[in-house]
Amino acid sequence: MDKIIISGGNRLKGSVKISGAKNSALPIMAATLLTRGSSVIKNIPNLKDVTTMSYLLVALGANIIISGDEITIKCDKIKRSFIHHDLVRKMRASVCLLGPLLARFGKVEISHPGGCVIGPRPIDLHLKGLEKLGAQIEMKHGYIIAKSEDGLRGNEIYLGGPLGSTVLGTANVMMAATLARGETIIEGAACEPEIADLAAFLNAMGAKIIGAGTHILRIEGVEELGGAEHTIIPDRIEAGTYLIAVAISGGDTLLKGARHEHLTAVIDRLEEAGVKIERAPDGLKVKRKNELKAVNVIALPYPGFPTDMQAQMMSLMSIAKGTSIVADMVYPDRFIHVGELLRMGANIVRQGPRATIIGVEKLGGAQVTASDLRASAALILAGLAADGETEVSRVYHLDRGYEKIEEKLSSLGAKIKRVTDKPSGKKKK
Ligand code: EPU
Repeated sequence: MDKIIISGGNRLKGSVKISGAKNSALPIMAATLLTRGSSVIKNIPNLKDVTTMSYLLVALGANIIISGDEITIKCDKIKRSFIHHDLVRKMRASVCLLGPLLARFGKVEISHPGGCVIGPRPIDLHLKGLEKLGAQIEMKHGYIIAKSEDGLRGNEIYLGGPLGSTVLGTANVMMAATLARGETIIEGAACEPEIADLAAFLNAMGAKIIGAGTHILRIEGVEELGGAEHTIIPDRIEAGTYLIAVAISGGDTLLKGARHEHLTAVIDRLEEAGVKIERAPDGLKVKRKNELKAVNVIALPYPGFPTDMQAQMMSLMSIAKGTSIVADMVYPDRFIHVGELLRMGANIVRQGPRATIIGVEKLGGAQVTASDLRASAALILAGLAADGETEVSRVYHLDRGYEKIEEKLSSLGAKIKRVTDKPSGKKKK
């Protein structure tokens, strides 16, 4: 298995291009199932999750052509609507095939995704929304079987849950509602930019969705959708991760393509911490010269601070002057990275959904293990600022969500490399 080795201490300089958003690309690829027409999606990131989604669509019968960062998908010969547990386990986002398959074919059988390392991840809201559209849903042997023999019908649906709105739940219900009879109103919808991007793609296919990017969506069902061309938005979480890479290492960098309007909560916290961020004609300029100050952060649904940036922010706060509190109200159990940051000399105490971080002068390089995608990134960021060498193992998660991270960071001046881990008998100190 690969590991990433970082020698900390280098400032980052130059420019880096932000790739297309993973969390837009995945539901948009799933949405191509809603039509027999051919769709062309541009600015697709080269990531393992995108490969898994392509593989899934091909297994269902789709025809896919990939050329650079452009993908053409045609779903005119879909032969099955069954998704095996192995695929759902590999990539939880496969759950967003549920809505489109149900709407177009009237039946779908998909493995329940269950929980994962960032905590329990129920899909009750997805199912509630689809039931409100008239689907009959039953659970058998870990599989969800959803049917809509008489077609779906528009309805008023409240999709908020105890922890706020649901991103993929909103995606599923919105996609299904595009082909339902009559009007659907989704209240408590997720307003993440990835949902607005999906709605833009669906509208280009002929759907009638208004309100995307707000908590209320109105969807007028249509008879059928056609193929469309669409360019995926830049990945705000990748951009945020590079903002922190520069903040933690010091330096001066341009993030090409990064959008200020998608990152306001992250930028607000970073500016408060002493990082300079400016709009540039083609992205964002980030600079950090002075000492970092501790700031408090609460991860909330958009437009709040993203849970997908919580771990990276904690790495930054580990070396900030003062005490900060980092809380996660979206995934209250997403704190496995705390133990690994402690190995690097951070001073963090976790209590339930929040952690108190007392900034230390310096982190020290150590052998650490990545538990999930964003935790992997957080450990790399910590390694950039640490004294000596940091070895991050189990980095396969990284390739799910960060395109060529070690190449991009190297191009900015970081000392980072990927090596294939051979069993050596060497134990963790
Ligand atoms: N929730 C429910 N019931 C549901 C669905 C969600 O209670 O039916 C709860 C969840 O347990 C969680 C909260 O609602 O506490 C929000 O979950 P959400 O459904 O919004 O998460 P998701 O749609 O499964 C997407 C991203 C995640 C990101 C979250 C939150 C994709 C493919 N995944 O997941 O991204 O953390 O939204 O913003 O879009 C990542 O990229 O590393 C990642 C984990």
